[in-house]
Amino acid sequence: MQKLRIQGGRRLHGTVRVAGAKNAALPIMAASLLTADPLRLENVPQLADTATMARLLGAMGVAVETTEDGRTTLRAGEIRSVEAPYDTVKTMRAAILVLGPLLAREGAARVSLPGGCAIGARPVDQHLKGLQALGADLHLDQGYIVASRSGRLRGARIVTDMVTVTGTENLMMAAALAEGTTVIENAAREPEIADLAACLNAMGAKIAGAGTDRIEIEGVDRLHGACHRVMPDRIESATFLAAVAATGGEVRLEAAAPATLDAVLEKLREAGAQVETGADWIRLRMDERPAAVNLRTAPHPAFPTDAQAQFMALNCIARGVARISENIFENRFMHVLELQRLGARIDIDGHTAVVHGVEALSGATIMATDLRASASLVIAGLVAQGETIVDRIYHLDRGYEAMETRLAALGAQIERIR
Ligand code: UD1
Repeated sequence: MQKLRIQGGRRLHGTVRVAGAKNAALPIMAASLLTADPLRLENVPQLADTATMARLLGAMGVAVETTEDGRTTLRAGEIRSVEAPYDTVKTMRAAILVLGPLLAREGAARVSLPGGCAIGARPVDQHLKGLQALGADLHLDQGYIVASRSGRLRGARIVTDMVTVTGTENLMMAAALAEGTTVIENAAREPEIADLAACLNAMGAKIAGAGTDRIEIEGVDRLHGACHRVMPDRIESATFLAAVAATGGEVRLEAAAPATLDAVLEKLREAGAQVETGADWIRLRMDERPAAVNLRTAPHPAFPTDAQAQFMALNCIARGVARISENIFENRFMHVLELQRLGARIDIDGHTAVVHGVEALSGATIMATDLRASASLVIAGLVAQGETIVDRIYHLDRGYEAMETRLAALGAQIERIR
């Protein structure tokens, strides 16, 4: 199993180009199922998860062509299979995003229920409730959601019980081809939803309000091909920024979207970093030991749960005590035990972690447990004294493109070992 070997203690300096957003690319790739025409995408990140989505769509009959510069063309001329098998869904929950498009275009889908995952129960009841409101007939068969419809889906007013990102995306895609108007109330406001809506609108959909908590979708008879550039990855940006705030140094992020990172940038400034931004770049300089920063994760535009672990690593070596409360997932503190092995002082009380900053961490062998937890362990390794080995980095590869190469280019001493 591949690992990362890190010699901590180097400050980071230089420029890094932010990749396209994984969480925008995945729903947008699934949107290719909504038309027989080609969907041409730019800035698709080359990740394990985007490769999994490409394989899943390929098995359904979508012709997928990817070039190294991040251009991907998907053409769902004829859909041969409407099944998302368990083996795929269990490795990548976002596979559930094929449900809405398949139901809308083909009138049938058979998608494995995701089941539990490392960071919590993560049910998909809101996806199902919303699709039923649009007229879908759904039942469970041996762990699979079996979906069908008689006639077209029909527009409806849907109020979700909680804010769900992929739920909003699934419903938006299904409603794009429904008859009449759909309104999603309590919609997620994540920037990736606005990016998906921009792509769907370029394909001929009529969606207004994406990025707010009320999205209105006027259904159309058919969608057509389009070109779309995937937005920059704000979580990857937050990860690099937290790393530099922890190690000290000065780094410029290019091809970034600072407007999607308000809560993160505010916390970095609170920690003592000097942060400057332009339309598509962010420069962060850190000359001092960071100050502890309290965090509360919540749906966008509040602080993202996907950056919680990375900011916990930063707090481990900060001056003072930080309270970090995780309000999206019930079991998203698995990095804590690993950080403790490096000497971090963290107490957990329910969904709050209290981090007592220590002057230094010391290297050890630690194990990645999920995608963002892995990123936090890498940050901790970059600041720890001596050698840290991060095991099971296949989790990291799900969401970060060549992380070690890009950190090494900034001056980190980090390499992949087998
Ligand atoms: C998406 C992101 C993930 C991020 C998360 C929260 C993608 C591919 N993944 O995941 O990186 O961490 O948003 O920002 O974009 N819930 C239900 N029933 C549902 C749906 C959700 O109870 O039908 C609960 C979940 O268990 C969780 C909360 O709602 O507690 C938010 O989940 P959701 O926004 O749906 O997360 P994902 O879309 O799976």
